[in-house]
Amino acid sequence: MARVICIVNQKGGTGKTTTAINVSARLANKGYRTLLIDIEPQANASLALGVDIHALKKTMYDVLLEEEVELDDIIIGTTTENLMLAPTHVDLANTDINLADKTDKQFRLKNKITKMRAKFDYILIDCPPSLSLLPLNALTASKEVIIPLQADYLSLEGLEQLISTIDKVRDKLNSELKILGILFCIVDRRMKMTTQSIDIVKEDFNKLVFDTQMRLCVKLKEAATFGQSIFEYAPKSKGAEDYGKLTEEITAGEENV
Ligand SMILES: Nc1ncnc2c1ncn2[C@@H]1O[C@H](COP(=O)(O)OP(=O)(O)OP(=O)(O)O)[C@@H](O)[C@H]1O
Ligand SMILES: [Mg+2]
Repeated sequence: MARVICIVNQKGGTGKTTTAINVSARLANKGYRTLLIDIEPQANASLALGVDIHALKKTMYDVLLEEEVELDDIIIGTTTENLMLAPTHVDLANTDINLADKTDKQFRLKNKITKMRAKFDYILIDCPPSLSLLPLNALTASKEVIIPLQADYLSLEGLEQLISTIDKVRDKLNSELKILGILFCIVDRRMKMTTQSIDIVKEDFNKLVFDTQMRLCVKLKEAATFGQSIFEYAPKSKGAEDYGKLTEEITAGEENV
């Protein structure tokens, strides 16, 4: 049965999509049957995997809105063997309005994922930068959360709010939910603020912080622009090394799930 992991932070640009794409690609390279679900309306993950989103007939929009559309109906292959993608649609931006009157509005994604868990080893969910109904659906559908964080003071404020939301979801919607790890992304150690804010987070959440940190690596940005994972685009880069190590940390925790 698949481990279901969502990648959440309500702050924009913290490295969610970069993490979702490259961890998924690495897991797939290691032979795990992996599904990446993109519920971010800007479709960054779908685009970064080289998908022509305008050619798609059905997307996560249909899966979440239509009772009879299943993940199986929209999943597509990628250039990475073992990596499948459930692509997004720009209209997902209106999910809150479209689902407002549905009684199961927080459980839509969970209901659809449950039917797919036997087909995959890992299901990852890339979320938009908000705490709206889309990330709530992801938190309700997942057993584990990765929180990508930037090493600056403003991000630390958002972290408390996010952890309190995760606590509420655990209380009310998904008692199994746990934080797999806080991940420092885009780490530039030349800046004093970087080490200081990492230290502050470690003081409060030491056990929850991943050992691996993502060093600043321009090739990660370039890879996404070319529609490739870092392992295809620049397998010898710092980004490939760091996402490789992070994936080892994640798979090492399999027995604890
Ligand atoms: N380690 C890194 N080094 C350099 N650039 C990075 C690194 N990680 C991510 N980036 C770049 O930083 C930008 C933001 O990253 P990303 O899109 O993954 O964040 P996000 O949290 O998904 O953003 P959003 O909240 O808008 O969805 C992107 O241009 C990405 O290529
Ligand atoms: Mg993103």
